[in-house]
Amino acid sequence: MDQNSDIAAVPLLAANGVSKSFGHVQALDSVNIAVHAGEIVALLGENGAGKSTFIKILAGVYAPDAGELLVDGRPVRFGSPAEALNAGVATVYQDLALVEQRDVASNLFLGREFTKGIFVDRRRMYKEAEIAVESLDFHIPSVRTTVDLLSGGQRQAVAISRAVAMGGRIVILDEPTAALGVRESAAVLEMINNLREQGRGVILISHNLQHVLPLADRIFVLHRGRPAGVVTSEEATAEIVVRLIMGDTSV
Ligand SMILES: Nc1ncnc2c1ncn2[C@@H]1O[C@H](COP(=O)(O)OP(=O)(O)OP(=O)(O)O)[C@@H](O)[C@H]1O
Ligand SMILES: [Mg+2]
Repeated sequence: MDQNSDIAAVPLLAANGVSKSFGHVQALDSVNIAVHAGEIVALLGENGAGKSTFIKILAGVYAPDAGELLVDGRPVRFGSPAEALNAGVATVYQDLALVEQRDVASNLFLGREFTKGIFVDRRRMYKEAEIAVESLDFHIPSVRTTVDLLSGGQRQAVAISRAVAMGGRIVILDEPTAALGVRESAAVLEMINNLREQGRGVILISHNLQHVLPLADRIFVLHRGRPAGVVTSEEATAEIVVRLIMGDTSV
């Protein structure tokens, strides 16, 4: 193996042996995941399988009871979501956490406003917002449009762009198409594909196999908090994936 392929083989983000309990409920039991640059990894499992708990650990919301996280091959401990973000791990939750009455640009840089002296540098903000929106190729009327006027798909696009604008090299998406119609889902899936083409690592949670199967490079399945299997896009058929989700160990 030459040096370059060695470097490419180091995952942007890896979790090894991650466990987490809430009281008597073991939400996660020795779970591993790895996501590389330019890769979309899907995380699947039934309701309550532990998907959200797992990404909250990756995102610095919860500390794991056991196991370790590595960014670029180096062990990290995230004491907060801000620390995860500093390391390049950006998460888009289902509620999106956008401020409806503010425009797209303000939402992209919420809490991280550019300043010029003591003032917010609005010119720079709009310029940077336009660059961010163009880089992911999604369509909104303007970065000055307030979020309350946007469709569900456009809002999802704004939330994904914010993850990127905040420096997300690893972008985690929890059910990004759950609330969307067919056309809007297609636009968001295209945007997720753009993240991969930019060399980011993506972790995608979705219940919709029609969305996941054509897009994901690898599929990780959780069953009742335990790893149920990993399949590559070449191996993955809907039947195999559904059997893993149901906890069929004979797959
Ligand atoms: N903060 C918490 N306190 C107590 N129990 C929790 C907490 N968060 C999750 N759990 C439990 O941990 C298990 C895993 O939940 P989690 O939300 O991670 O599942 P999920 O795979 O995201 O499910 P869904 O597809 O419904 O979103 C469940 O049994 C859940 O009830
Ligand atoms: Mg969940």
